[in-house]
Amino acid sequence: MQGLNHIAICVPSIREAANTFASLLGVPVTEPVKLENHGVTVSFVKLSNVNLELLEPLGEDSPVANFLAKHPRGGIHHLCFDVNSARGSLERIRALEDYRVLNTEPKIGSHGTPMFFLDPKDSCGCLIEMEQTDPE
Ligand code: CO
Repeated sequence: MQGLNHIAICVPSIREAANTFASLLGVPVTEPVKLENHGVTVSFVKLSNVNLELLEPLGEDSPVANFLAKHPRGGIHHLCFDVNSARGSLERIRALEDYRVLNTEPKIGSHGTPMFFLDPKDSCGCLIEMEQTDPE
C-alpha cells in the first residue's frame, strides 16, 4: 500500500466540473478524454498530494450512470489506493473474512494498469479501487 492515488467525483458535466475546480483551487484541469471501453469521460485535477478524477457518464451503459441518477448534482464516487501488486492485494483481501471484491480477477483500468474494486457494503459505504502503480 503506497497511498491515496485519486478521489473520483462523478459529475453530470465534466466541463462545468472542470470550471468549478479550476476556479475553486486555482489549478489547471486536464482536457477531458473519452474512454469508450470504460463508459466514462475523465479529466484530472492534479494536486500536490492526490488527484481528483472527474467522471462523466459516456454512453447508455456507463457504469456510473446509476450513481448519477441517484446523485444528479454529482458526488464522490470512489477512492483509489495505490498497491504494488493488484493480484497480490486481491488475494490478500479475498483471504480475509467479511470483505467482498467486485472483480474476481484484476482488470486493466482506465490508467492502463491492473486494478479491482471492493464492495462498498464492506468498506463503510465507500467504493474502493485498488490500483497497481506500475504495469505488469
Ligand atoms: Co478511479
